[in-house]
Amino acid sequence: MPGFKVAIDGPAGSGKSTISSRVAKRLGWTHIDTGAMYRAVTLKAIENEIDLTDEDAYRFLETSLIHYDLDRIYIDDRDVTEKIRSDEVTQNVSLVSSFPYVRKKLVSLQQKAARDGNIVMDGRDIGTVVLPNADLKVFLTANVEERAKRRFAESMRKGKRVYMKNVIDEIVLRDKKDSTRAQSPLKMADDAIMLDTTYLTIAEVVDKIIDLIDKKEKKHGD
Ligand code: DC
Repeated sequence: MPGFKVAIDGPAGSGKSTISSRVAKRLGWTHIDTGAMYRAVTLKAIENEIDLTDEDAYRFLETSLIHYDLDRIYIDDRDVTEKIRSDEVTQNVSLVSSFPYVRKKLVSLQQKAARDGNIVMDGRDIGTVVLPNADLKVFLTANVEERAKRRFAESMRKGKRVYMKNVIDEIVLRDKKDSTRAQSPLKMADDAIMLDTTYLTIAEVVDKIIDLIDKKEKKHGD
């Protein structure tokens, strides 16, 4: 696996995707948002009107093309970047990502996508399952109120009317589902560095991660 691999994990709303994208842009590296891949599968499952609770119905993945490139997510060459953020997708993605078959397919795609070059990959199981030998593993956290505030602000920016209480409830529920599922639950890798972002700006977190990368790269060069 030539290149430097950074695994960034954390719960919903911890800022993973925004931060990973900025780190990658600053360094000229490739960013892969694996949550967007699970969301794309969820969108296609909803559009195909399959029974979302039936693991076998996800066999459509055998002939589906999913790829993430320059902050855009494609399924069967269709750009679904905006569509995957719908409430319907958000409400069902934890269920879809709990199926071993779906995870096996996506983990294999993610490992292939990370094979060459310098990669910043974010998700829930990157440091534990997808890239267990990553050169740097970061686990981002933030308290629930702060994560809800960020989601709330993001929705407002997009002109979406939401209620703070609903945003908090959604985050608490998704945390619970993502961390208690049987398959690869959200869990910090033993060798990950935890970064609490509650009182940090995005720019500060990006700087800290770039510092950590610099230090590791120096060590590699020794
Ligand atoms: O990061 P996000 O909120 O877009 O992720 C959407 C969902 O996908 C999340 O609720 C859990 C799932 N997911 C996962 O199970 N494993 C990953 N590596 C990334 C996301």
